[in-house]
Amino acid sequence: MNTLRVNLKGRAYDILVGANLLCRSGDLIRRLELGRRIGLVTHPALAETYGYASAVVSSLREAGHDVSVVTIPPGEESKSLDQAAHLCRELVRAGLDRGSAILSLGGGVIGDLAGFVAATLFRGIAFVNLPTTLLAQVDSSVGGKTGVNLPEGKNLVGTFHQPRLVVADVLTLRTLPVREFRSGLAEVVKHAMIADQELFRILEEDADRILERDPPTLQAIIGRNCAIKARVVEADEREAGMRAVLNFGHTVGHAVEAAAGYGTITHGEAVAYGMLVATALSVRRGLCPPADASRLERLLRRFDLVPTACVSPELVEKYIVRDKKMRDGVLQFVLTPGVGSVTLAPISGWMDLREVLHDLQV
Ligand SMILES: NC(=O)c1ccc[n+]([C@@H]2O[C@H](COP(=O)([O-])OP(=O)(O)OC[C@H]3O[C@@H](n4cnc5c(N)ncnc54)[C@H](O)[C@@H]3O)[C@@H](O)[C@H]2O)c1
Repeated sequence: MNTLRVNLKGRAYDILVGANLLCRSGDLIRRLELGRRIGLVTHPALAETYGYASAVVSSLREAGHDVSVVTIPPGEESKSLDQAAHLCRELVRAGLDRGSAILSLGGGVIGDLAGFVAATLFRGIAFVNLPTTLLAQVDSSVGGKTGVNLPEGKNLVGTFHQPRLVVADVLTLRTLPVREFRSGLAEVVKHAMIADQELFRILEEDADRILERDPPTLQAIIGRNCAIKARVVEADEREAGMRAVLNFGHTVGHAVEAAAGYGTITHGEAVAYGMLVATALSVRRGLCPPADASRLERLLRRFDLVPTACVSPELVEKYIVRDKKMRDGVLQFVLTPGVGSVTLAPISGWMDLREVLHDLQV
C-alpha cells in the first residue's frame, strides 16, 4: 500500500492506494476516531452487482460502526441540488448527527455529491472518500472540491471540504467499463504532461500493463498521480493561482465536450483533444519542441483517446468564449514548454488558436 500525505494546515490527510483495501476500511479509518454512525453513499450497482458496498459495510461494522447505506442513481444528473436534498433527508432520518461521518463509494459524481452534503449537513461533518473510478482515484478525490450542477451549468454550486482520508482500492478498477477507464487515463497523461517527465516515460513503457489493469502497475501510477495533484493543492488550496495548471487541456476540452453535446465524446477524449490543441499552440509559439507534441499524440492514440466526433472549430470557439476563465476578452490558457512542465499564458489574440483548431479539427 502507498501512503501519501496531503499537507494542508489544520486539514492534512492521507491518501492510501493499494489492492484489497475496501475490506479493510474499518481498520483504516480507526485512527480518525470518527463517530459511531456512518452514512455510506454509493450507486446501486456498486452495492448489488459488484458487492463493494457490502465489503465496506462488513468491515465498518466489525470496527463497531452503525452504518446506513444510501444509494443514488448513476450519472451526472445525480449531481443535483435535488439529490443533495434527498441525501440530506435520508441521512438525517437514518440518525446521523454532528458527530457522524459520510463515506462516499464511487466515482467523481458520488464523491462530489456526498462531499457537498458532508460540507453542508449540520454545517459540515467528517468525510471519507473511497474512489472507485480511475478519474476519481487520480483526480477528483484529491483536493477537496465538492459540488453539484445546476441546469445552467456544471459545478456551479459547491464548496471546498477536505476529506479526512482517501482510500483508493485499485482492484475496483477491474470492473470499470473500458471507456470510463480510458477516460481516466486522460487525467493521468495530463498530470505527466504538467509535472512529471518520468511518469510520462513510464506511461509510454507500461502502456500494455496499464491497459490490462495490472494492480501493481496501477498502484504505482495512481500513487504518483495523487502526489502530483497533492503538491498542486498544497500550494494553492482554493484555486487562487497555481492550481490553474490543472486546467491543461481543459479550456478547449470543456468547450469541445459541450459543443459535441455531453455524452457524445467522453470527458477524457475531450481533455485529450484539448491537450493536443494546447501543445500544438505551444509548438506554434516556439515554446515546445515538435517532438514532444508527437510523443503526446502517440501516447493518447495508444490509450485510444483521440476523439472522432465531428465538431466545427467555430462552434468550439463559441464555447471557449463562454469559459469561466475568460475575463475582459482575455483567456487564461495553459501552454507547455514540453513534456513535464506547463506555463500560464493569457491569450488575447486568437488567430493562432483558431488556426490550430482548424488543423486539428475533430
Ligand atoms: N472534485 C473534483 O476536483 C473533480 C475533478 C474532476 C472531475 N470531477 C467530477 O467527477 C465527475 C465524473 O466522475 P467519474 O468520471 O468518476 O464518473 P462517475 O462518477 O459518473 O462514474 C462513472 C460510472 O462508472 C460507474 N462505476 C464507478 N466505479 C465503478 C467500478 N469500480 N466498477 C464499475 N462501475 C463503476 C458509476 O456507477 C458510473 O456509472 C464529474 O461530475 C466531474 O465534474 C470532480
